[in-house]
Amino acid sequence: MASLGHQVIAVDIDSRKIAHFNEGTLPFYEPGLAELLSKINKSDLTFSTNFSDISECEIHFLCIGTPQSEDGLQADLSALESAFHSVVEMARPGSIIVGKSTVPVGTAERFAAALEESNPKVLLNWNPEFLREGHAIADTLQPNRIVIGARTEKEAERLTSFYEEISPETPVYITNFPTAELVKVAANAFLATKISFINAMSEVADATGADVSLLADAIGADDRIGRKFLGAGIGFGGGCLPKDIRAFLARADELGLSESLHFLQEFDLINQRARVRAVALALKELGVPQGKKIAVLGAAFKPDSDDVRDSPALEIAETLHTLGAHVVVHDPRALESAAKKIPDLTYSNSIEETLTGADLTMHLTEWVNYRELDPAIIRKLVNVPTIFDGRNVLDTGNWQSAGWKLLALGRPL
Ligand code: UGA
Repeated sequence: MASLGHQVIAVDIDSRKIAHFNEGTLPFYEPGLAELLSKINKSDLTFSTNFSDISECEIHFLCIGTPQSEDGLQADLSALESAFHSVVEMARPGSIIVGKSTVPVGTAERFAAALEESNPKVLLNWNPEFLREGHAIADTLQPNRIVIGARTEKEAERLTSFYEEISPETPVYITNFPTAELVKVAANAFLATKISFINAMSEVADATGADVSLLADAIGADDRIGRKFLGAGIGFGGGCLPKDIRAFLARADELGLSESLHFLQEFDLINQRARVRAVALALKELGVPQGKKIAVLGAAFKPDSDDVRDSPALEIAETLHTLGAHVVVHDPRALESAAKKIPDLTYSNSIEETLTGADLTMHLTEWVNYRELDPAIIRKLVNVPTIFDGRNVLDTGNWQSAGWKLLALGRPL
């Protein structure tokens, strides 16, 4: 927003994050963001821990995380509720509050009713966020759709014209609150469904000798199906897809609709099984894990991110470590966040050191760096040239002709 010429104040109660931004450093990795921030005029973008700084603002975006609750499947809205109440207290008449967080359907109407009671001259819109980590800037500046939920069409007008300036080509959908909230969770549920569907096919492929990657290519060639998000492997992780399908299940249960969404529970289980299948394959290959070195390539839940929340790569590494193997984890960006989450594992920022003497190499996050490795050169580093391609993106022929044995889920290699 600041790069487009708006005056922006970013507020967070996490003083460590705010201190980072004030010093001009980022507390997380997102490609291109540091460069973009360095180009922005300091007076156009300020950072604060104090909600009183927002009293003159015209639009208040709520960009608060809604993680899974510690005691169940439902989303924990406590941080969002607290930020919302702080903003309501400060918002001046005529301003609008825009919810971007992913929330259980029904939340926006509840917030709008609270706002009507305590600050009636302020409007609420619900405007779900669809950005992907690793593509945050492009997804923000050129979004593929904008959804604005409001009580009436008129109440959506100001936000609509605000977005028209940013991205005039982007289709805008003006909806009621429940539709806006549901578009977001339905989109993530559909993406999770695609991934788990192909991983279910991978289980069938394992039992029958079929090749799930070729199967995905062939069904994906039908543009009604599409090849995107049919990448079989160790499954989805991160701070969104897993917790969003669980929160959706919890909400459906409250609405008396558990049967309608029951399939999501199956897809969650297929996703978790992919991690178990990867560990089983490693153990089958290694025999006794004690005394064996496993080189793990990747800790982040996906490439171009340092996020390790619910990362399949890190969970597989941790399980193999717990079973007694000597696991060394490499990642181009996520080592710090991984070490904070699982301090017991061994981490290395050198691919060479990670691979040296390995009895098994596991490729678990599809960073482009790993695809660019020369299998002939790194073959000389390892003890046993066997690699598990947990993301099905390595050039099989290239690795095999350099003398590697390839392992994968759902592919007879
Ligand atoms: C996801 C959605 O894609 C965004 O549209 C949404 O805005 C965001 O959640 C959110 O709710 O905030 P993100 O969590 O950044 O974005 O990650 P994705 O790109 O969706 O990938 C999720 C996981 O699925 C990753 O672990 C990835 O490795 C895995 N994946 C993806 C597969 O296993 N196979 C595939 O074919 C594609």
